[in-house]
Amino acid sequence: MGPIESRWLASPERRRAIQKLTAWAAAAPALSAQRDPVRPHPRFPKLEELLSPLDFEPVAHARLPRFSYDYTAYGSDGEFTLRRNRDAFDWVKLIPSSSGAAAELNTATELFGTRLTSPLLISPTAAHVHMHPDGELATYQGATAANTPMIVSTNTSVPIEKIAPTAKGQLWFQLYPREDMESNREMLERAQAAGAKAIVVTIDQQAAEYERALHDRHLGAPITSTARRASSRQSGEPSNPYRIREFRLWYEWGLFAKLRPMIKVPMIAKGILTAEDARLCLEHGLDGVYVSNHGGRSIDYGPSTLEVLPEIAAAVNGRVPILFDSGVRRGSDALKALALGATAVCLGRMPRWGLGAYGSQGVQRSLELLQAELAAAMRYTGRTTLASIDRTLVRTDFP
Ligand code: FNR
Ligand code: LAC
Repeated sequence: MGPIESRWLASPERRRAIQKLTAWAAAAPALSAQRDPVRPHPRFPKLEELLSPLDFEPVAHARLPRFSYDYTAYGSDGEFTLRRNRDAFDWVKLIPSSSGAAAELNTATELFGTRLTSPLLISPTAAHVHMHPDGELATYQGATAANTPMIVSTNTSVPIEKIAPTAKGQLWFQLYPREDMESNREMLERAQAAGAKAIVVTIDQQAAEYERALHDRHLGAPITSTARRASSRQSGEPSNPYRIREFRLWYEWGLFAKLRPMIKVPMIAKGILTAEDARLCLEHGLDGVYVSNHGGRSIDYGPSTLEVLPEIAAAVNGRVPILFDSGVRRGSDALKALALGATAVCLGRMPRWGLGAYGSQGVQRSLELLQAELAAAMRYTGRTTLASIDRTLVRTDFP
């Protein structure tokens, strides 16, 4: 170091220059935006701050990569049915009542011989790993902590035998049937060996083609290529001029007679939207009817599930349990579905948002909030047990 540098190092000018630079930097917007970079971004509320099951979607939206959010959110084509699933809950009014207000409230029920503390389950949805690195393991742990059974999808990102030992809850399995009956047998054997308490056979979505969703919802490479690989493995790329996936177009009612000997637990058909199909379920020996339009991801311009539930309940007439999903986001929604004939209500996207936002704790809390809302809605309508819930607690105003 020369004499000039040594003098500069000790000089008051240098100190003033450093002070000015520091003051300028401290005031710079780019720097203040980085303040306290170690703490989570203030946009993310703490888990305890979320007060309704509806609060989880915006947090998941902020946290997840765009394609993971869009894959969960989208509905098929114009998303008419997706919207209608939500609108339908606005067309059903709850009738308030103060009777029974003093009685103890009990949301417990029995479904296929198993006791549930609340009539809620998690619908089967694919690839939870897109929402959280622990995938279905986190969902199952959160669901178990909230006493809620989980239906594991055929398209699970973690095999069911790896999920089962991680908690002491209740697992069911959802089957996308394949034409090759041996591969169905293998999947069903594995699921039942892992402890699946019921098998849900999904029979909607036969021809779903996500082409529009891929454009409108920015579904990028990871999902597209997985879906394409799965379809081409089973039947090759669509060969018809309409680009319709053909690998589920062979479904017919005789399928259930072939599956029945492979299933030792209750067998339920998922995707029922008409009284006629509900009757066919009973004819074909199904133990349960699952009313669903795949959360608006099957045929677009189909009806909302809430609108068709009463005619299906009338056709089933209490002979088998009715499961219900598509559009349920809060406790009052669940109560409306129970009033219109559902035995239990399943949740597809809602716990996925909980998972994407806060992992297993988010699943647990979103479910607990929904359970609490259901209990509150039962109080307002003067119903203190599930057995006392019936049509008289709602007024429907379907267009
Ligand atoms: C689904 N759904 C579904 N169903 C099924 O039988 N097997 C599956 O693998 C999947 N995968 C799947 C992925 C995603 C991201 C969604 C949103 C849905 C349909 C699901 O079981 C359920 O019917 C709907 O999600 C219910 O609608 P809500 O609750 O999401 O409005
Ligand atoms: C879906 C399929 C996996 O809805 O069922 O994405």
